[in-house]
Amino acid sequence: MTDESGRVVSSATEDHQPFSSPQIGWAEQHPEDWWRACCLAIRKALVSANLSGKDIACVGFSGQMHGAVMLDEQGSVVRPALIWCDVRTEKECLDLTAKIGREQLIQLTCNPALPNFTLTKLLWVRENEPENWKRVRSVLLPKDYVRLRLTGERATDVADASGTLLLDVAHRRWSREMLQAAELDEGSLPGLFESPEVCGKLSSTGAAETGLKVGTPVVAGAGDQAAGATGMGIVAPGTVSATIGTSGVVFAATDRPALDPQGRVHTFCHAISGRWHVMGVTQAAGLSLRWFRDTFAMDSSGARESYDRLTEEAAKISPGSDGLLWTPYLMGERTPHLDANARAALVGLTASHTRAHIVRAILEGVAFSLRDTFTIFQEMNVPVKNIRLGGGGARSPLWRQIQADVYGHPVEIVEAEEGAAYGAALLAAVGAHIWSSVDAACSAAVRVASRVIPQPAAVATLNVSYSAYRRIYPATKELFNPH
Ligand code: XUL
Repeated sequence: MTDESGRVVSSATEDHQPFSSPQIGWAEQHPEDWWRACCLAIRKALVSANLSGKDIACVGFSGQMHGAVMLDEQGSVVRPALIWCDVRTEKECLDLTAKIGREQLIQLTCNPALPNFTLTKLLWVRENEPENWKRVRSVLLPKDYVRLRLTGERATDVADASGTLLLDVAHRRWSREMLQAAELDEGSLPGLFESPEVCGKLSSTGAAETGLKVGTPVVAGAGDQAAGATGMGIVAPGTVSATIGTSGVVFAATDRPALDPQGRVHTFCHAISGRWHVMGVTQAAGLSLRWFRDTFAMDSSGARESYDRLTEEAAKISPGSDGLLWTPYLMGERTPHLDANARAALVGLTASHTRAHIVRAILEGVAFSLRDTFTIFQEMNVPVKNIRLGGGGARSPLWRQIQADVYGHPVEIVEAEEGAAYGAALLAAVGAHIWSSVDAACSAAVRVASRVIPQPAAVATLNVSYSAYRRIYPATKELFNPH
C-alpha cells in the first residue's frame, strides 16, 4: 500500500502452498489457496498501518504468469491450475507448431510455442482429461482469478495476456487466427485492457472478505515480470532488470516488438501502452537454492537451514567455487535452450568441496544462466546501460556481488523492495489519476538506493567459469533428450 508520493506505507505477505509436482515436469496449484492468502495479506496490510478500506483509492494486481485457471459455468475451478513452470506439454507444442507453422506462430504471437504458455496447457487438458475439459467455460490467468473473486469480473491486461500464446502481441488484441487454430471461443477469454486502465470495482463479497470498500476501482495490472519491471523503473530502452525470484528473468523495455529469430527470449507487451519488452527466463533460479535447502540443508535440530546462514557460509568460498559448476535446469529450461528435457547438473565435485561450495556454485550458476540473456540481448542490439536487481536475489549481499561480477557491470538496487506488488501499486496510482502516466509515476517514485561495483579479479575468474558453464548443456543434452 503506497501513499500519493509512491512511499510504501504498509505491506504484508501470506504464504500459499508450494506447487505440487505429481510427475516429473508437472507443477500445479489450487487457485482457492491464492485467494485465501490474498485476503489474509490485504487484511494484515490494512491493520498494520491502521488503515481501513475507505483509505484505498484504487487496487492494482500482479501475479505469476502463464498459469491456466479453468472455470465452469458457475465460475468454479474445474481442476488445479497448471502453472508457469509446468512443462508437460511438449507434445502440444510440437502439434501446434506443425499445424500453424513456426514462422506463422511468431508472426501471429511474436513467440514460439513453449510448454510454459497457457494455450498449450489448455490443449493438454482437452486431450488428456476430456471429462474436465467438457466443463470448462472460461479461462483466466492466476492474478485474474483473484480479480474475479474480488470484483466478479473477468478481465486481464495485455502484458500478462502476452504469455498465453493467444495474444497478437504486436497489435495488443486477442489473435482470431490463434483462437481459430486452437478451436477456442473468444468468449471463454477475459476482456483485455492496458495495465493502468480501470476495469472494474470491488464487489460486496470481495469487500467483505478483504476489508476493502465496495466500489473501490481496480486497474488491470500486469504479470509479475512487467509489474516488477515497472516497480524498478524499467520503462524505456537502456535500463534492464535482472530479477531472481523462483524463476530468474532479465527484462528490457523496447519501443517496438523486438524479436529474437530463434525465439530464445519472449517478446511481450509492457505494462505501458505503446511499449513492449523482451525477456529471457531461467525456470529454476531462486528455486535452485530453495530445492537445495529443502532437500539437503537441515540445521542440527533437523529444521531447514536459513538462507542467511547458507549464504554466509558461501561468502567464505572464493569466486569460481573452486571449480564447481551448477546448471539450474531443475524444471527444464527456457532461455537459451528452449528444452523441457534439459536437466540440472552439479559438475566438478571433488572430496574437498563442502556444502558452502555447493551453495556458492548454485548462486553463480543461476547468475550464469541470467548472463545468457545478456549475451542474446547483445546479438539483438538491445541496449544495456543500467542493470537493476530485483527479487530475493537482490536482497542477499552475496548474490548482488556475484551478479555484478558475473555480468561484469555495476548493478543498482531500488528503494522499494516490494517488486511486482510495488509496480502494481504504481499502476493503480495511475488509474487513480495520481500520475498522468506510468512514466511519470516511475520518475517520481522509483529511487536507486545503492549500487554494487564488479570486482575485477572476480570478473576474470567468473568469465572463465562462464565459458565452462556454457559447455555443460551441449555436452549432457543427449543424455536426457529422447529425440
Ligand atoms: C515469466 C515467468 C515467471 C513466472 C513466475 O515468463 O514464467 O515470471 O511468472 O514468476
